[in-house]
Amino acid sequence: MDLTHFIFDVDGDGIATVLMDRAGEAMNTFSPETGEDLVVILNRLEQDDAIRGVVIGSAKPDNFLAGADIRWFATLVDPAEAEAAMQAAQDGFGRLEALHLRRGKPVVAAIHGACLGGGLELALACGARVSSDDEKRTQLGQPEVQLGLLPGGGGTQRLPRLIGIASALDLILTGRPVRPRKALKLGLVDAVVPRSGLLEAARTRALQLLHPPPPEPQTLTERLNAYLNPAALQTVVLERNPIGRRVLFAQAEKAMLKETKGNYPAPPAALECVRVGVEKGMAAGLAAEQAAFGRLVVSPESKALRSIFFATQELKRDPGIATDAEARDISRVGVLGGGLMGGGIAAVNTTRAGVSSIIKEVDQAGVDRGIGYVQKVVDGQVKRRRMQKADAWLAMQRQVTATTDYRDLTDVELVIEAVFEDLDLKRSVLAETEEVTASGTIFATNTSSIPISDIARGAARPANVVGMHYFSPVEKMPLLEVIVTDQTADWVTATVVAFGKRQGKTVIVVNDGTGFYTTRIIGPYSAEVMYLLKDGATIEEIDGAMVQWGFPVGPVTLSDEVGIDVGAKIGKILENAFGERMEAPPAFGALTADDRRGRKNGRGFYRYEDGVKAGVDESVYAVLGVTPRPGTISRQEIQDRLSLQMINEAARCLGEGILRSARDGDIGAVMGLGFPPFRGGPFRWVDELGADTIVERLRELAKVHGDRFAPAPRLAEMADKGESFY
Ligand code: NAI
Repeated sequence: MDLTHFIFDVDGDGIATVLMDRAGEAMNTFSPETGEDLVVILNRLEQDDAIRGVVIGSAKPDNFLAGADIRWFATLVDPAEAEAAMQAAQDGFGRLEALHLRRGKPVVAAIHGACLGGGLELALACGARVSSDDEKRTQLGQPEVQLGLLPGGGGTQRLPRLIGIASALDLILTGRPVRPRKALKLGLVDAVVPRSGLLEAARTRALQLLHPPPPEPQTLTERLNAYLNPAALQTVVLERNPIGRRVLFAQAEKAMLKETKGNYPAPPAALECVRVGVEKGMAAGLAAEQAAFGRLVVSPESKALRSIFFATQELKRDPGIATDAEARDISRVGVLGGGLMGGGIAAVNTTRAGVSSIIKEVDQAGVDRGIGYVQKVVDGQVKRRRMQKADAWLAMQRQVTATTDYRDLTDVELVIEAVFEDLDLKRSVLAETEEVTASGTIFATNTSSIPISDIARGAARPANVVGMHYFSPVEKMPLLEVIVTDQTADWVTATVVAFGKRQGKTVIVVNDGTGFYTTRIIGPYSAEVMYLLKDGATIEEIDGAMVQWGFPVGPVTLSDEVGIDVGAKIGKILENAFGERMEAPPAFGALTADDRRGRKNGRGFYRYEDGVKAGVDESVYAVLGVTPRPGTISRQEIQDRLSLQMINEAARCLGEGILRSARDGDIGAVMGLGFPPFRGGPFRWVDELGADTIVERLRELAKVHGDRFAPAPRLAEMADKGESFY
């Protein structure tokens, strides 16, 4: 057979081994070309009587099949074309299924590494599935909803039939993958074996299925136990009768709406396909899947989510500089300050980058706090089986140390500073670091608002100074904003960008300026909250409106979480740099005067009972000198005023050269600040609505509320010329 993307072989027992091996790519993905090969293979499997069984695996070292090639989705501009493509995929998988269901040829999937989307759909069409026990690399899932799509190759049909409706909905509606142990528990795979024996185990399984032993008679206790198992009970009580199913779908729908706020069309569409399949049969379900896929693939939400995916992929390859300066190797990192951020940075040095950290603190309590933070993160990794217990112990012994003495930092290649947010302090720790380290040591600051060039002023080696702005909690948040001054050397930038990637971060590089990008665009957004309160909006209305708009938390909650005192301090810095635009009404100061610091001291805009957020603290309005008048400002107006402040400031950052590209601005806002992913980021969202529409709305708002809504020059220019960012 003439195959480009597969390796095909038949052994003496008549078991065909089909290994996917997409030409020219490290990752197996589906595309029309691989589909053509698959048809050739299916013809052979169906027609060749010498073939008695099939094993499907991968020739790649670390992935099975990651799903459809996402680049190909962009070429599907017409829903009908997309439907036809899904029809072809469904036909292929249907033929694979018929091999074992109708032709008596067992088909076994041998899964190691990513088995996602179309990859899992292929595995589902097989008669059995064996997976490697690699909890780190092997993942099975239907992540389509995360790209605004749904499984269009039969996933919404075969998954519920295999593992039950409730578990299938969980996988399909969240897009979250499962690891081998969980997959076995769900019944998604039949066996989990060491990677080295995977293909052989699948082959043996295929042979066993050719001659299945007669079923062993079950004892009464065994049968009873099977029913008493809670999962089995749920299946019997809920999934096998129509009323139970209605309850189940209603529950799933409620949970989904709570997550998506109705902003994401894919999950409800997927839910509907599952429902149709269960109630009306597989053929109807498959037809529903095709139609829904066709609609979703051309939706703005899917386009936005895919653009974020691509931008993330692009950034993985982006060295962060325009020259060919080389990144230097980093093996030992000094971390100044072992607080919330320093602890988190040292933790990802260990768990992700695999480099040594030495935490420098002021006293033993600080040392213990820093080490304790890393230990907590490492323990979590062990608990979730991302790290072996012995490796974790070794890493803590060998890679994580702490000191109160600068002299212990002499041999580090990179120092990341996360001491208090105070310019004088930051300058003094920089000077102290320069004194003990070599001329090639990089000094990176994790300041959240102070211009890097202010910190670097007076430095002995300003070319080595750079910003590495992490987000809290460091071990969870995906973004790193690298900030370069006009003195930062290119090799320094290249080195910290490469190092950030090793820490598992998506890295954007921005130019220096007060608040850089991410902190700066929060400035006018936060200030606007205060204007809204002054104008009568309630805290519930403000937070509710923005959560509905798609942010994970509202701006008032965010302020309590970050700390009102921290916000006030940053607000002042921004206001000094940018003036009126960032200026909150003066009453804001009253909050800090009233010792309201937010969640951390249990006094903020909200009340906290034993650390748990418990409703708005109504007394805060009097402190601010405002009167809440519910219903005075519409939800739409709240959303417009807040979102446009952030978007307009983002456009200024691009216009002023703080940002290198709209792409970086979108990634920074989505990954650092929780800007709604289905809108694709501030720039993608401007493109979606049209710069002219945005500018018109800003001008209307400026008429009523003043110059703080004046359109950014870059936006106004684009509206005039009818241009777009992408
Ligand atoms: P933190 O208060 O939790 O930790 C600061 C630590 O620095 C303390 O443990 C303190 O003992 C230590 N420290 C103070 N002076 C020191 C010195 N001379 N040498 C060594 N250690 C010293 O503060 P956090 O939240 O970790 O913030 C640190 C920095 O990170 C600040 O610049 C902050 O603006 C920035 N940042 C904070 C974010 C957050 O969400 N908390 C997000 C991004 C940046």
